[in-house]
Amino acid sequence: MISRFSKAFLFIVLLLFLLGSIVLLHPPSRAYIDPWTGDLFGEGGVEKELQHPAGTGGKAVHGGVIMSKLGNATAKAELGRATWKLLHTMTLRYPEEPTQDQRDALDSYFHLFSRLYPCGECAAEFQQLLKNYPPQTSSRRAAATWLCFVHNQVNARLHKPDFDCANLDATYDCGCGDEPVGSSAPAVQAENDPMDMETDPSKDATTGVGMIKGGR
Ligand SMILES: *[C@@H]1O[C@H](CO)[C@@H](O)[C@H](O)[C@H]1NC(C)=O
Repeated sequence: MISRFSKAFLFIVLLLFLLGSIVLLHPPSRAYIDPWTGDLFGEGGVEKELQHPAGTGGKAVHGGVIMSKLGNATAKAELGRATWKLLHTMTLRYPEEPTQDQRDALDSYFHLFSRLYPCGECAAEFQQLLKNYPPQTSSRRAAATWLCFVHNQVNARLHKPDFDCANLDATYDCGCGDEPVGSSAPAVQAENDPMDMETDPSKDATTGVGMIKGGR
């Protein structure tokens, strides 16, 4: 014979089970209107945006390539030189001990860069590189070395010599750092710029070991 207590216990368990089922079957609406501002929260509204700031979780950050193919080889080479200059300078001035926010910013930057780079076929290659070698953002050295490594992946495809990552800071000393990095060597000439990744090496008389600063 089941005691009264057992009956009550079973009844409560059954009741909780039923309540749980109802909640699961009918989840409360995740969107509502803020009565003060009229803003829609949740389901694509304000709240969702707050949960995914410009950080690594944002949808737009991780999409596909946006620009079309850039046929003009001259324009592509010019763009490549300027871009490597920008990217290397960026990682070399990146904080030595970045905050989580700064790390997210750099990670997002590279992913957005891989979407919006004006040469579509170059952007597609960079997206693949990001997939294989996720950006390293824990410190200036980590970021700069990572970018140098990625650059050398591109150099390898173009049959260009490896860039010496140990010399990167000297080569890219823009004189604008918060502290001197490496020697105050003059900037490399455009025509033998080791960062020029798009020039056809078969037509580049200066291609060779000598083009790497210090010849190392
Ligand atoms: C290719 O690009 C270069 C540099 O932007 C430009 O001077 C040249 O006119 C372009 N050539 C063509 C065919 O559009």
